Amino acid sequence: MDLTKLTAVQRKVINKNYKICVIGAGHVGLVSAACFSELGYRVICVDNDTNKIKSLKKKILPFYEPGLDSIVIKNINKGNLVFTSALEQSIKKADVIFIVVGTPSLADGSADLTSIENVARTIARNLNSYKLIVEKSTVPVQTGSKVKETIYRYRKNNTEFDIASNPEFLREGKAIYDFFHPDRIVIGVEHDRAEMILKSLYASIKAPIVVTDINTSELIKHASNSFLATKISFINAVAHICDLAGANVKEVALGMGLDKRIGKEFLNAGLGYGGFCFPKDLEAFIYISKKLGYDFKLLQEVKKINDEQRRYLVDKIKEHLWVLKNKKIAILGLSFKPDTDDMRFAPSIDIVSSLLDEGACIKAYDPQSNSEAKKVFGNRKIEFAKNAYTAVKNCDCVCILTEWEEFKKVDFSKFKKLMHYPLIADGRNMFDKKQVEASGFKYIGLGT
Ligand code: UDX
Repeated sequence: MDLTKLTAVQRKVINKNYKICVIGAGHVGLVSAACFSELGYRVICVDNDTNKIKSLKKKILPFYEPGLDSIVIKNINKGNLVFTSALEQSIKKADVIFIVVGTPSLADGSADLTSIENVARTIARNLNSYKLIVEKSTVPVQTGSKVKETIYRYRKNNTEFDIASNPEFLREGKAIYDFFHPDRIVIGVEHDRAEMILKSLYASIKAPIVVTDINTSELIKHASNSFLATKISFINAVAHICDLAGANVKEVALGMGLDKRIGKEFLNAGLGYGGFCFPKDLEAFIYISKKLGYDFKLLQEVKKINDEQRRYLVDKIKEHLWVLKNKKIAILGLSFKPDTDDMRFAPSIDIVSSLLDEGACIKAYDPQSNSEAKKVFGNRKIEFAKNAYTAVKNCDCVCILTEWEEFKKVDFSKFKKLMHYPLIADGRNMFDKKQVEASGFKYIGLGT
Protein backbone atom coordinates (compact mmCIF):
# COMPACT_ATOMS: atom_id res chain seq x y z
CA MET A 1 0.00 0.00 0.00
CA ASP A 2 1.38 3.45 -0.95
CA LEU A 3 1.39 5.14 2.46
CA THR A 4 1.93 8.57 0.92
CA LYS A 5 -1.54 8.38 -0.61
CA LEU A 6 -3.28 7.71 2.68
CA THR A 7 -5.38 10.43 4.28
CA ALA A 8 -4.54 11.69 7.76
CA VAL A 9 -7.29 9.47 9.22
CA GLN A 10 -5.97 6.40 7.43
CA ARG A 11 -2.53 7.06 8.89
CA LYS A 12 -4.12 7.45 12.33
CA VAL A 13 -5.99 4.19 11.81
CA ILE A 14 -2.81 2.31 10.98
CA ASN A 15 -1.23 3.66 14.15
CA LYS A 16 -4.47 2.97 16.04
CA ASN A 17 -4.26 6.61 17.04
CA TYR A 18 -7.79 7.78 16.32
CA LYS A 19 -11.00 8.43 18.13
CA ILE A 20 -14.17 6.45 17.74
CA CYS A 21 -17.47 8.08 18.61
CA VAL A 22 -20.37 5.71 19.26
CA ILE A 23 -23.71 7.52 19.17
CA GLY A 24 -26.29 5.61 21.20
CA ALA A 25 -25.64 3.73 24.49
CA GLY A 26 -28.28 1.01 24.05
CA HIS A 27 -27.84 -2.77 23.95
CA VAL A 28 -25.76 -2.50 20.76
CA GLY A 29 -24.09 0.89 21.19
CA LEU A 30 -22.86 0.37 24.74
CA VAL A 31 -21.55 -3.11 23.92
CA SER A 32 -19.82 -1.82 20.78
CA ALA A 33 -18.29 1.16 22.59
CA ALA A 34 -17.01 -1.03 25.42
CA CYS A 35 -15.61 -3.67 23.06
CA PHE A 36 -13.92 -1.14 20.77
CA SER A 37 -12.24 0.36 23.86
CA GLU A 38 -11.27 -3.17 24.94
CA LEU A 39 -9.52 -3.49 21.55
CA GLY A 40 -7.41 -0.49 22.59
CA TYR A 41 -9.19 2.28 20.73
CA ARG A 42 -10.15 5.57 22.38
CA VAL A 43 -13.94 5.67 22.45
CA ILE A 44 -16.44 8.39 23.24
CA CYS A 45 -19.91 6.96 23.86
CA VAL A 46 -22.69 9.53 23.46
CA ASP A 47 -26.33 9.34 24.47
CA ASN A 48 -28.97 12.07 24.75
CA ASP A 49 -30.38 10.37 27.87
CA THR A 50 -28.48 12.42 30.46
CA ASN A 51 -29.58 10.15 33.33
CA LYS A 52 -28.17 7.13 31.51
CA ILE A 53 -24.87 9.00 30.93
CA LYS A 54 -24.76 10.14 34.58
CA SER A 55 -25.13 6.49 35.71
CA LEU A 56 -22.53 5.25 33.20
CA LYS A 57 -20.03 7.84 34.47
CA LYS A 58 -20.63 6.30 37.91
CA LYS A 59 -19.99 2.86 36.32
CA ILE A 60 -23.65 1.86 36.70
CA LEU A 61 -24.99 0.10 33.60
CA PRO A 62 -28.54 0.69 32.24
CA PHE A 63 -29.24 -3.00 31.59
CA TYR A 64 -27.98 -6.50 32.42
CA GLU A 65 -25.56 -8.03 29.89
CA PRO A 66 -23.20 -10.72 31.24
CA GLY A 67 -19.60 -9.47 31.32
CA LEU A 68 -20.34 -5.95 30.09
CA ASP A 69 -19.90 -4.24 33.46
CA SER A 70 -16.31 -5.46 33.93
CA ILE A 71 -15.28 -4.35 30.42
CA VAL A 72 -16.90 -0.92 30.87
CA ILE A 73 -15.33 -0.36 34.31
CA LYS A 74 -11.90 -1.55 33.15
CA ASN A 75 -11.84 0.80 30.17
CA ILE A 76 -13.23 3.79 32.04
CA ASN A 77 -10.39 3.28 34.52
CA LYS A 78 -7.88 2.99 31.66
CA GLY A 79 -9.21 6.20 30.12
CA ASN A 80 -10.15 4.40 26.86
CA LEU A 81 -13.87 4.88 27.31
CA VAL A 82 -15.71 8.09 28.17
CA PHE A 83 -19.43 8.87 28.33
CA THR A 84 -21.08 12.15 27.47
CA SER A 85 -24.26 13.75 26.17
CA ALA A 86 -22.22 16.40 24.32
CA LEU A 87 -22.88 15.14 20.80
CA GLU A 88 -21.47 18.09 18.82
CA GLN A 89 -18.09 18.19 20.60
CA SER A 90 -17.81 14.40 20.35
CA ILE A 91 -18.43 14.48 16.61
CA LYS A 92 -15.76 17.18 16.19
CA LYS A 93 -13.20 15.05 18.08
CA ALA A 94 -14.00 11.79 16.28
CA ASP A 95 -12.44 10.23 13.20
CA VAL A 96 -14.86 7.29 12.93
CA ILE A 97 -18.48 7.75 14.00
CA PHE A 98 -20.80 4.78 14.60
CA ILE A 99 -24.50 5.60 14.48
CA VAL A 100 -26.14 3.13 16.86
CA VAL A 101 -29.37 4.91 17.78
CA GLY A 102 -32.73 3.17 18.05
CA THR A 103 -34.90 2.54 15.01
CA PRO A 104 -38.16 1.43 16.68
CA SER A 105 -41.27 0.39 14.74
CA LEU A 106 -43.95 2.92 13.88
CA ALA A 107 -47.63 1.93 13.86
CA ASP A 108 -47.50 1.06 10.14
CA GLY A 109 -44.50 -1.26 10.73
CA SER A 110 -41.95 1.07 9.19
CA ALA A 111 -38.74 1.86 11.07
CA ASP A 112 -38.72 5.22 12.83
CA LEU A 113 -35.58 6.87 11.39
CA THR A 114 -36.05 10.22 13.17
CA SER A 115 -33.01 9.70 15.41
CA ILE A 116 -30.87 8.61 12.46
CA GLU A 117 -31.78 11.74 10.51
CA ASN A 118 -31.21 14.03 13.52
CA VAL A 119 -27.77 12.52 14.09
CA ALA A 120 -26.91 12.84 10.38
CA ARG A 121 -27.81 16.54 10.45
CA THR A 122 -25.76 17.11 13.61
CA ILE A 123 -22.78 15.34 12.05
CA ALA A 124 -23.13 17.55 8.97
CA ARG A 125 -23.04 20.69 11.06
CA ASN A 126 -19.93 19.54 12.94
CA LEU A 127 -17.88 18.13 10.09
CA ASN A 128 -14.57 19.81 10.95
CA SER A 129 -12.33 17.16 9.29
CA TYR A 130 -12.63 13.92 7.26
CA LYS A 131 -14.79 11.40 9.07
CA LEU A 132 -16.04 7.90 8.35
CA ILE A 133 -19.71 7.67 9.33
CA VAL A 134 -20.83 4.09 9.94
CA GLU A 135 -24.42 2.85 10.26
CA LYS A 136 -24.54 0.12 12.90
CA SER A 137 -28.21 0.52 13.77
CA THR A 138 -30.46 -1.89 11.92
CA VAL A 139 -31.92 0.23 9.12
CA PRO A 140 -34.06 -0.39 6.03
CA VAL A 141 -32.16 -0.76 2.80
CA GLN A 142 -31.24 2.59 1.13
CA THR A 143 -30.98 4.42 4.49
CA GLY A 144 -27.24 4.93 3.87
CA SER A 145 -27.92 6.97 0.75
CA LYS A 146 -30.35 9.14 2.74
CA VAL A 147 -27.74 9.70 5.47
CA LYS A 148 -25.20 10.67 2.79
CA GLU A 149 -27.65 13.05 1.09
CA THR A 150 -28.52 14.63 4.46
CA ILE A 151 -24.88 15.29 5.31
CA TYR A 152 -24.24 16.79 1.88
CA ARG A 153 -27.30 19.01 2.31
CA TYR A 154 -26.55 20.28 5.84
CA ARG A 155 -22.75 20.44 5.96
CA LYS A 156 -21.31 23.94 6.27
CA ASN A 157 -18.31 23.38 4.01
CA ASN A 158 -16.91 20.85 1.55
CA THR A 159 -15.15 18.73 4.17
CA GLU A 160 -14.85 15.16 2.91
CA PHE A 161 -16.58 12.21 4.56
CA ASP A 162 -17.55 8.63 3.76
CA ILE A 163 -20.59 6.59 4.71
CA ALA A 164 -20.46 2.87 5.52
CA SER A 165 -22.79 0.17 6.79
CA ASN A 166 -21.57 -2.27 9.47
CA PRO A 167 -24.59 -4.16 10.85
CA GLU A 168 -24.34 -5.90 14.21
CA PHE A 169 -25.27 -9.53 14.86
CA LEU A 170 -25.07 -9.41 18.66
CA ARG A 171 -27.39 -11.71 20.63
CA GLU A 172 -28.53 -10.27 23.96
CA GLY A 173 -27.02 -12.30 26.76
CA LYS A 174 -24.09 -13.30 24.53
CA ALA A 175 -23.26 -9.88 23.08
CA ILE A 176 -19.67 -9.66 24.34
CA TYR A 177 -18.85 -13.12 22.99
CA ASP A 178 -20.54 -12.31 19.69
CA PHE A 179 -18.60 -9.04 19.30
CA PHE A 180 -15.22 -10.78 19.64
CA HIS A 181 -16.23 -14.02 17.87
CA PRO A 182 -18.61 -13.03 15.06
CA ASP A 183 -19.51 -15.58 12.38
CA ARG A 184 -18.75 -12.79 9.93
CA ILE A 185 -18.13 -9.05 9.77
CA VAL A 186 -20.20 -7.29 7.13
CA ILE A 187 -19.09 -3.92 5.79
CA GLY A 188 -20.88 -1.94 3.12
CA VAL A 189 -18.72 0.79 1.58
CA GLU A 190 -18.46 3.08 -1.44
CA HIS A 191 -14.73 3.87 -1.32
CA ASP A 192 -11.54 1.88 -0.67
CA ARG A 193 -10.47 4.28 2.10
CA ALA A 194 -13.64 3.44 4.06
CA GLU A 195 -13.00 -0.27 3.54
CA MET A 196 -9.39 0.12 4.69
CA ILE A 197 -10.42 1.97 7.86
CA LEU A 198 -13.05 -0.61 8.85
CA LYS A 199 -10.78 -3.56 8.02
CA SER A 200 -8.07 -2.02 10.18
CA LEU A 201 -10.50 -1.36 13.01
CA TYR A 202 -11.54 -5.03 13.08
CA ALA A 203 -8.06 -6.38 12.25
CA SER A 204 -7.63 -8.17 15.59
CA ILE A 205 -10.94 -10.04 15.25
CA LYS A 206 -10.59 -13.35 13.43
CA ALA A 207 -13.69 -13.69 11.22
CA PRO A 208 -14.57 -13.70 7.51
CA ILE A 209 -15.14 -10.14 6.29
CA VAL A 210 -17.90 -9.61 3.72
CA VAL A 211 -17.14 -6.40 1.81
CA THR A 212 -20.02 -5.16 -0.30
CA ASP A 213 -21.98 -2.03 -1.13
CA ILE A 214 -24.09 -0.20 1.42
CA ASN A 215 -27.52 -1.35 0.16
CA THR A 216 -26.43 -4.99 0.18
CA SER A 217 -24.96 -4.68 3.67
CA GLU A 218 -28.19 -3.17 5.00
CA LEU A 219 -30.20 -5.98 3.37
CA ILE A 220 -27.96 -8.72 4.83
CA LYS A 221 -29.03 -7.66 8.31
CA HIS A 222 -32.78 -7.63 7.66
CA ALA A 223 -32.61 -10.83 5.63
CA SER A 224 -30.59 -12.63 8.35
CA ASN A 225 -32.93 -11.76 11.20
CA SER A 226 -36.00 -12.49 9.09
CA PHE A 227 -34.64 -15.91 8.12
CA LEU A 228 -33.89 -16.77 11.77
CA ALA A 229 -37.43 -15.72 12.70
CA THR A 230 -38.74 -17.85 9.83
CA LYS A 231 -36.95 -20.91 11.20
CA ILE A 232 -38.54 -20.32 14.60
CA SER A 233 -42.05 -19.89 13.20
CA PHE A 234 -41.56 -22.91 10.97
CA ILE A 235 -40.74 -25.20 13.90
CA ASN A 236 -43.57 -23.66 15.95
CA ALA A 237 -46.03 -24.46 13.16
CA VAL A 238 -44.63 -28.02 13.12
CA ALA A 239 -45.20 -28.11 16.91
CA HIS A 240 -48.92 -27.51 16.34
CA ILE A 241 -48.97 -30.42 13.86
CA CYS A 242 -47.07 -32.61 16.36
CA ASP A 243 -49.75 -31.91 18.98
CA LEU A 244 -52.41 -32.98 16.50
CA ALA A 245 -50.49 -35.99 15.23
CA GLY A 246 -49.09 -37.25 18.52
CA ALA A 247 -45.50 -36.62 17.43
CA ASN A 248 -42.64 -34.99 19.34
CA VAL A 249 -41.39 -31.68 17.92
CA LYS A 250 -38.09 -31.87 19.83
CA GLU A 251 -37.30 -35.11 18.04
CA VAL A 252 -38.54 -33.73 14.72
CA ALA A 253 -36.13 -30.80 15.21
CA LEU A 254 -33.30 -33.20 16.05
CA GLY A 255 -33.98 -35.25 12.95
CA MET A 256 -34.15 -32.13 10.78
CA GLY A 257 -31.20 -30.27 12.31
CA LEU A 258 -28.66 -33.03 11.67
CA ASP A 259 -28.96 -32.12 8.01
CA LYS A 260 -26.12 -29.61 7.62
CA ARG A 261 -28.21 -27.64 5.14
CA ILE A 262 -30.84 -27.06 7.83
CA GLY A 263 -28.65 -26.86 10.97
CA LYS A 264 -29.85 -27.50 14.50
CA GLU A 265 -29.88 -23.88 15.71
CA PHE A 266 -33.14 -21.92 15.97
CA LEU A 267 -35.33 -25.02 15.81
CA ASN A 268 -36.43 -24.89 19.47
CA ALA A 269 -40.23 -24.81 19.42
CA GLY A 270 -41.83 -22.79 22.17
CA LEU A 271 -43.44 -19.42 22.71
CA GLY A 272 -41.67 -17.94 19.70
CA TYR A 273 -39.40 -14.95 19.36
CA GLY A 274 -39.53 -11.70 21.30
CA GLY A 275 -36.91 -9.06 21.98
CA PHE A 276 -36.41 -5.72 20.28
CA CYS A 277 -34.87 -7.06 17.09
CA PHE A 278 -36.85 -9.83 15.46
CA PRO A 279 -40.34 -8.29 15.82
CA LYS A 280 -39.11 -4.83 14.74
CA ASP A 281 -36.84 -6.04 11.92
CA LEU A 282 -39.54 -8.30 10.47
CA GLU A 283 -42.07 -5.44 10.42
CA ALA A 284 -39.52 -3.09 8.87
CA PHE A 285 -38.45 -5.63 6.23
CA ILE A 286 -42.09 -6.34 5.27
CA TYR A 287 -42.71 -2.58 5.05
CA ILE A 288 -39.63 -1.64 3.00
CA SER A 289 -40.17 -4.64 0.68
CA LYS A 290 -43.74 -3.52 0.00
CA LYS A 291 -42.54 0.07 -0.51
CA LEU A 292 -40.02 -1.21 -3.06
CA GLY A 293 -42.78 -3.18 -4.78
CA TYR A 294 -42.56 -6.68 -3.30
CA ASP A 295 -45.29 -8.07 -1.00
CA PHE A 296 -43.32 -10.34 1.38
CA LYS A 297 -46.26 -12.67 2.26
CA LEU A 298 -43.98 -15.33 3.75
CA LEU A 299 -42.80 -12.93 6.48
CA GLN A 300 -46.37 -11.85 7.19
CA GLU A 301 -47.15 -15.50 7.92
CA VAL A 302 -43.99 -15.83 10.06
CA LYS A 303 -45.24 -12.93 12.20
CA LYS A 304 -48.78 -14.39 12.40
CA ILE A 305 -47.54 -17.81 13.57
CA ASN A 306 -45.35 -16.12 16.18
CA ASP A 307 -48.20 -14.00 17.54
CA GLU A 308 -50.45 -17.09 17.83
CA GLN A 309 -47.99 -18.99 20.05
CA ARG A 310 -48.81 -16.89 23.11
CA ARG A 311 -52.55 -17.63 22.90
CA TYR A 312 -51.81 -21.29 22.18
CA LEU A 313 -50.26 -21.79 25.63
CA VAL A 314 -53.06 -19.92 27.42
CA ASP A 315 -55.68 -22.05 25.63
CA LYS A 316 -53.86 -25.23 26.71
CA ILE A 317 -53.80 -24.04 30.34
CA LYS A 318 -57.53 -23.26 30.14
CA GLU A 319 -58.17 -26.77 28.75
CA HIS A 320 -56.60 -28.21 31.94
CA LEU A 321 -57.86 -25.74 34.56
CA TRP A 322 -61.26 -25.04 32.95
CA VAL A 323 -62.12 -21.77 34.79
CA LEU A 324 -59.05 -19.51 35.27
CA LYS A 325 -60.86 -16.97 37.46
CA ASN A 326 -59.29 -16.94 40.95
CA LYS A 327 -56.90 -19.75 39.99
CA LYS A 328 -53.36 -19.10 41.30
CA ILE A 329 -50.79 -19.29 38.51
CA ALA A 330 -47.01 -19.08 39.02
CA ILE A 331 -44.97 -17.53 36.19
CA LEU A 332 -41.31 -18.52 35.98
CA GLY A 333 -39.42 -16.31 33.52
CA LEU A 334 -40.45 -12.85 32.33
CA SER A 335 -37.58 -11.68 30.08
CA PHE A 336 -37.84 -12.43 26.34
CA LYS A 337 -34.97 -14.92 26.66
CA PRO A 338 -32.51 -16.04 29.35
CA ASP A 339 -29.46 -14.02 30.49
CA THR A 340 -31.10 -10.65 29.94
CA ASP A 341 -33.51 -8.38 31.82
CA ASP A 342 -34.96 -7.16 28.52
CA MET A 343 -38.73 -7.59 28.36
CA ARG A 344 -39.36 -5.92 25.03
CA PHE A 345 -41.91 -8.00 23.07
CA ALA A 346 -41.47 -10.77 25.65
CA PRO A 347 -44.14 -13.53 25.38
CA SER A 348 -44.70 -13.08 29.13
CA ILE A 349 -46.35 -9.70 28.51
CA ASP A 350 -49.17 -11.16 26.37
CA ILE A 351 -49.50 -14.35 28.41
CA VAL A 352 -49.60 -12.73 31.87
CA SER A 353 -52.01 -10.06 30.57
CA SER A 354 -54.34 -12.74 29.11
CA LEU A 355 -54.30 -14.73 32.37
CA LEU A 356 -55.03 -11.58 34.40
CA ASP A 357 -57.84 -10.68 31.99
CA GLU A 358 -59.34 -14.13 32.71
CA GLY A 359 -59.26 -13.31 36.43
CA ALA A 360 -56.30 -15.50 37.41
CA CYS A 361 -54.07 -14.54 40.36
CA ILE A 362 -50.42 -14.26 39.26
CA LYS A 363 -47.22 -14.82 41.20
CA ALA A 364 -44.13 -14.16 39.07
CA TYR A 365 -40.39 -14.75 39.40
CA ASP A 366 -37.51 -13.97 37.03
CA PRO A 367 -33.82 -14.09 38.06
CA GLN A 368 -33.12 -10.66 36.53
CA SER A 369 -36.35 -9.03 35.36
CA ASN A 370 -38.62 -8.58 38.39
CA SER A 371 -37.90 -4.84 38.62
CA GLU A 372 -38.24 -4.36 34.84
CA ALA A 373 -41.52 -6.32 34.96
CA LYS A 374 -42.92 -4.00 37.63
CA LYS A 375 -42.44 -1.11 35.16
CA VAL A 376 -43.87 -3.08 32.22
CA PHE A 377 -46.99 -4.35 34.00
CA GLY A 378 -47.62 -1.06 35.82
CA ASN A 379 -50.56 -1.29 38.20
CA ARG A 380 -51.74 -4.73 37.11
CA LYS A 381 -52.09 -6.97 40.17
CA ILE A 382 -49.03 -9.26 40.16
CA GLU A 383 -47.22 -10.65 43.20
CA PHE A 384 -43.45 -10.87 42.61
CA ALA A 385 -41.57 -13.70 44.30
CA LYS A 386 -37.94 -13.90 45.30
CA ASN A 387 -37.44 -17.40 43.95
CA ALA A 388 -39.21 -20.20 42.07
CA TYR A 389 -40.36 -22.06 45.19
CA THR A 390 -42.00 -19.01 46.73
CA ALA A 391 -43.67 -18.36 43.37
CA VAL A 392 -45.26 -21.84 43.06
CA LYS A 393 -46.52 -22.02 46.69
CA ASN A 394 -50.29 -22.79 46.73
CA CYS A 395 -50.51 -22.41 42.92
CA ASP A 396 -52.71 -24.43 40.55
CA CYS A 397 -50.25 -24.19 37.69
CA VAL A 398 -46.62 -23.18 37.10
CA CYS A 399 -45.83 -21.63 33.68
CA ILE A 400 -42.29 -21.61 32.30
CA LEU A 401 -42.04 -18.63 29.93
CA THR A 402 -38.23 -18.17 29.80
CA GLU A 403 -35.74 -21.02 29.84
CA TRP A 404 -33.36 -19.67 32.53
CA GLU A 405 -30.60 -22.12 33.42
CA GLU A 406 -31.61 -22.10 37.12
CA PHE A 407 -35.07 -23.47 36.26
CA LYS A 408 -33.47 -26.63 34.85
CA LYS A 409 -32.44 -27.54 38.40
CA VAL A 410 -35.77 -27.10 40.21
CA ASP A 411 -36.87 -29.92 42.53
CA PHE A 412 -40.24 -31.15 41.25
CA SER A 413 -40.98 -33.16 44.38
CA LYS A 414 -40.61 -29.93 46.37
CA PHE A 415 -42.80 -28.14 43.81
CA LYS A 416 -45.47 -30.84 44.22
CA LYS A 417 -45.55 -30.43 48.01
CA LEU A 418 -45.84 -26.64 47.67
CA MET A 419 -48.46 -26.50 44.93
CA HIS A 420 -52.23 -26.75 45.23
CA TYR A 421 -52.40 -28.67 41.92
CA PRO A 422 -49.32 -30.16 40.14
CA LEU A 423 -49.68 -28.73 36.63
CA ILE A 424 -46.74 -27.36 34.61
CA ALA A 425 -47.17 -25.39 31.38
CA ASP A 426 -43.68 -25.60 29.82
CA GLY A 427 -43.72 -22.77 27.26
CA ARG A 428 -40.12 -23.45 26.28
CA ASN A 429 -40.29 -27.29 26.19
CA MET A 430 -37.32 -27.17 28.55
CA PHE A 431 -38.30 -30.29 30.53
CA ASP A 432 -38.70 -33.92 29.57
CA LYS A 433 -42.44 -34.66 29.61
CA LYS A 434 -42.05 -38.27 30.84
CA GLN A 435 -39.70 -37.26 33.70
CA VAL A 436 -42.03 -34.50 34.89
CA GLU A 437 -45.07 -36.79 34.72
CA ALA A 438 -43.13 -39.38 36.72
CA SER A 439 -42.94 -36.75 39.52
CA GLY A 440 -46.74 -36.76 39.61
CA PHE A 441 -47.25 -33.65 37.46
CA LYS A 442 -49.63 -33.02 34.60
CA TYR A 443 -47.45 -31.67 31.78
CA ILE A 444 -48.34 -29.16 29.06
CA GLY A 445 -45.76 -28.66 26.31
CA LEU A 446 -45.89 -27.16 22.81
CA GLY A 447 -45.60 -30.03 20.35
CA THR A 448 -44.19 -32.56 22.80
C1 UDX B 1 -31.19 -11.55 17.57
C2 UDX B 1 -30.20 -12.08 16.53
O1 UDX B 1 -29.81 -13.40 16.90
C3 UDX B 1 -28.96 -11.19 16.52
O2 UDX B 1 -28.09 -11.64 15.52
C4 UDX B 1 -29.41 -9.77 16.21
O3 UDX B 1 -28.30 -8.90 16.17
C5 UDX B 1 -30.39 -9.30 17.26
O4 UDX B 1 -31.51 -10.19 17.29
P1 UDX B 1 -31.57 -11.63 20.14
O5 UDX B 1 -32.87 -11.00 19.78
O6 UDX B 1 -30.76 -11.07 21.24
O7 UDX B 1 -30.61 -11.65 18.82
O8 UDX B 1 -31.88 -13.13 20.57
P2 UDX B 1 -31.80 -14.56 19.91
O9 UDX B 1 -30.97 -15.38 20.78
O10 UDX B 1 -31.48 -14.47 18.47
O11 UDX B 1 -33.33 -15.07 20.05
C6 UDX B 1 -34.32 -14.27 19.46
C7 UDX B 1 -35.66 -14.81 19.94
O12 UDX B 1 -35.95 -16.08 19.34
C8 UDX B 1 -35.78 -15.01 21.46
O13 UDX B 1 -37.05 -14.55 21.88
C9 UDX B 1 -35.69 -16.52 21.63
O14 UDX B 1 -36.45 -16.95 22.75
C10 UDX B 1 -36.35 -17.01 20.34
N1 UDX B 1 -35.86 -18.33 19.91
C11 UDX B 1 -34.56 -18.47 19.58
C12 UDX B 1 -36.77 -19.37 19.79
O15 UDX B 1 -37.95 -19.23 20.09
N2 UDX B 1 -36.34 -20.58 19.33
C13 UDX B 1 -35.03 -20.77 18.99
O16 UDX B 1 -34.69 -21.89 18.61
C14 UDX B 1 -34.11 -19.69 19.13
